[in-house]
Amino acid sequence: TKIALFASGSGSNVQAIAEAVAAGSVPAEIALLVCDKPDAYVMKRAEALGIPAFSFQPKQYESKQAFEAEIVEQLQTSGVEFIFLAGYMRLIGPVLLAAYRNRIVNIHPSLLPAFPGKDAIGQAFDAGVKVSGVTVHFVDEGMDTGPIIDQECVRIDSGMTRDDVQKAIQKIEHSLYPNVITKLLTEHREEQTR
Ligand code: GRF
Repeated sequence: TKIALFASGSGSNVQAIAEAVAAGSVPAEIALLVCDKPDAYVMKRAEALGIPAFSFQPKQYESKQAFEAEIVEQLQTSGVEFIFLAGYMRLIGPVLLAAYRNRIVNIHPSLLPAFPGKDAIGQAFDAGVKVSGVTVHFVDEGMDTGPIIDQECVRIDSGMTRDDVQKAIQKIEHSLYPNVITKLLTEHREEQTR
């Protein structure tokens, strides 16, 4: 199954998913990386990993509708069936949602519905919660609000720094996301051969 990854930043999740694909543990082909920040480190990773990338500057388009229409075209040209957001720092709009309804998935570094939005790790740390974690969910029009697919928790013990928490969360993300992708794609294939 052809998938696309969307990212805006470092791309450690992109790296983890690509390695799992290369190892044969995720039954997918990463047909396209979509990136709204051409200078982001994830673009370098994509090049090193041999993943085709489409990067764009949102400001060079008239509207969100316009750049999303361009993204949909790129996705369809590449034969993409599923989209996995991995640190894509932008709300998905109606154009993408209409084209890929129930086929867009996001990973978020908290136990949703707690701490949606930006800097979820900092929010959890500042709130002093003792358990946080990672959520993988379907994307709808809201910010980190769609149906939850899977979650895993991380303990925040006293003495842990914000950085320790971030490392613990990332470690979970890098195994949880490939596992969820595998599960979704396997279910999808079974549905199609039924
Ligand atoms: C991850 O923590 C993810 O949950 C969040 O953004 C971060 C992306 O990190 N949505 P990276 O770019 O994959 O390293």
